[in-house]
Amino acid sequence: MSDSYKLELTRRPRRMRRTASLRALACETEVLPQHLIQPVFVLEGDVAPEPIGSMPGISRLSIKDLVAECRELHALGISGVALFPKLDDSLKSDDGREALNPNTLVLRAIRAIKAAVPEITVITDLALDPYTVHGHDGLWDAAAQDLANDATVEVLAEMAVLAAEAGVDMVAPSDMMDGRVGAIRVALDDNGYDKTAIMAYSAKFASAFYGPFRDAVGSASSAGTHHLDKRTYQLNPANRREALVEVALDEEEGADVLMVKPAGPYLDIIREVREATELPLAAYQVSGEYAQIMAAAERGWLDLERCRDESLLAIRRAGADMILTYFAKAYAQAALT
Ligand code: PBG
Repeated sequence: MSDSYKLELTRRPRRMRRTASLRALACETEVLPQHLIQPVFVLEGDVAPEPIGSMPGISRLSIKDLVAECRELHALGISGVALFPKLDDSLKSDDGREALNPNTLVLRAIRAIKAAVPEITVITDLALDPYTVHGHDGLWDAAAQDLANDATVEVLAEMAVLAAEAGVDMVAPSDMMDGRVGAIRVALDDNGYDKTAIMAYSAKFASAFYGPFRDAVGSASSAGTHHLDKRTYQLNPANRREALVEVALDEEEGADVLMVKPAGPYLDIIREVREATELPLAAYQVSGEYAQIMAAAERGWLDLERCRDESLLAIRRAGADMILTYFAKAYAQAALT
């Protein structure tokens, strides 16, 4: 080391990284529990939590346990929960008609949560995959070997009205049918639910990172496959401009919140959407993103807490206002300690 070697620098960006308090002052992005939504899986009956193998730390819960979980999440400062039902295979059908049962599992879960913890935002997915034997998000047209777009939208709009009636704060169409946001808005308004918001899965890609989720709701097992092909409705992961078209349409059709999904592998899309709209933007850190970090941490290959926190920070930095993440509860618990 020589003291004589000295660079003549006007700018030394490292000056602001020298101490913890300087770094805190210069910090540009934060992730607070209030930015987070915990996806939760609900199952029928007064049964013990059912751990999900490919999602360590996440279990399917009975309505009773789910209500207790929502109390805890609310106390931790988490703003919302996204509900996903795991139905018994006997309730699944070709047309997913259980979705329109006015007393179906997810509607009872909404009512129970809203009665016990009214402050927490409750979001439900609108899609038929938990209800169909084939595991697709809509009505399957066997002749066309594709989903029937408009007939599916009609069912989703009815599901939205049922969810609104049960007291849901936001409905989240996750199906990617054309025109569904506009149709759902009209159906809600026509039935007097003009206060029910729509969080649109706008740029939802045909991703392999949904694998563990399909185990969690049993949509893969009932369909007998781990590789449900949803490429005729979900976006091609190669396409950026097409994602912006979808986002613009959902905005025009009346979405209140737009969403990009998955999150981590699509940070560029989050940034582009952030710049293309003034609406609130959500990003969904999906089951496979969670599973990757958990699996590597279990092997001692990654530091769980630091990778978790960095993954969420990156999604906020890309431009997401809110994040749906399976890490929500653990993140909030860590933030409090
Ligand atoms: C289905 C739906 C999926 C997810 C949320 N809603 C799966 C899919 O589209 O196949 C994925 C969430 C996750 O992987 O965490 N409509």
